[in-house]
Amino acid sequence: MSDAKIIVHGGAGTIRPRLWAAYRDGAHVAAGIGQQVLNRGGSALDAVIEAVVNMEDNPVFNCGTGSCLTYDGRVECDAFVMTSDLRVGAVSIVTNLRNPVRLARVVMEQTVHHVIAGEATNRLADAHAIEKIDPHALIVDRRRRRWQEMMDRGLEFMVDPELEASDDPADLTDEDAMDTVGACAVDREGRVAVAGSTGGIMLKYPGRVGDTPMPGAGNYAGPAGAVACTGHGEAIMRVCLAKYCYDLLEQGVPVAEAASRSISHLTERVQGFAGLIAIDAHGNRAWATSTPNIPVGIPERVIDDSSGQHPA
Ligand code: GLY
Repeated sequence: MSDAKIIVHGGAGTIRPRLWAAYRDGAHVAAGIGQQVLNRGGSALDAVIEAVVNMEDNPVFNCGTGSCLTYDGRVECDAFVMTSDLRVGAVSIVTNLRNPVRLARVVMEQTVHHVIAGEATNRLADAHAIEKIDPHALIVDRRRRRWQEMMDRGLEFMVDPELEASDDPADLTDEDAMDTVGACAVDREGRVAVAGSTGGIMLKYPGRVGDTPMPGAGNYAGPAGAVACTGHGEAIMRVCLAKYCYDLLEQGVPVAEAASRSISHLTERVQGFAGLIAIDAHGNRAWATSTPNIPVGIPERVIDDSSGQHPA
């Protein structure tokens, strides 16, 4: 029997002080929901799914309801799930589901494939009675206002010249939507799982696929533990950040050191902005980020200081 544990994150970037409590508390609540599943003897898979569903329904986070918008003003979501026996499922360019992570689970459990994208996700959702939603209902005022502001400034495809030119992570704000969510858990049986969900990045080109649904890029799980990343997907995928961190866990590197070494690797190789959470098979948890904030949730206490690198 293992100690059943969970850790969640609500994105990486610079969160404006007026919004910090909503992110911090949202992550804490989601972790508590996942922990309840674990305490009832539920699986790590069920725990991470329920935690992420809660965040998809919380309009604060950039996933499900509250997702950021493409260049043409629509929501396109990505989601992912993976377990320690290397089962994996993901969806991308999902436009009309309330909880894309539930369809990622369908891909993992009900198909012979691992990633399904675009229009076909509609048919798969219908075939498995996954809840649809009016795409307009996924758009919240805060994101619409930010989208309009960026369009008025003539920005294109999230290639914000000011942002790209900046080497200061404080220039990335929550309004620029790096706030992908993720959860990692280990259950009483020692099974590990990870789940992630995101609206991607603001002003992304329609059809853009981020790191979240790419196994090993934004998320990874195996017998040694699980890793969930958040941040600029184009940077994360270039170093396969989640698998990089996972491999350190498999080599026996302590989880806090694995997390911080992975973020250093990202910074050295591609100067990327990102954060991650990780759990090992014994339930030891940590997070690290190259950005000023990453709201991290664990059930035991509210985490108010979530910059830098920490064991949880
Ligand atoms: N990390 C989320 C994305 O870039 O799509």
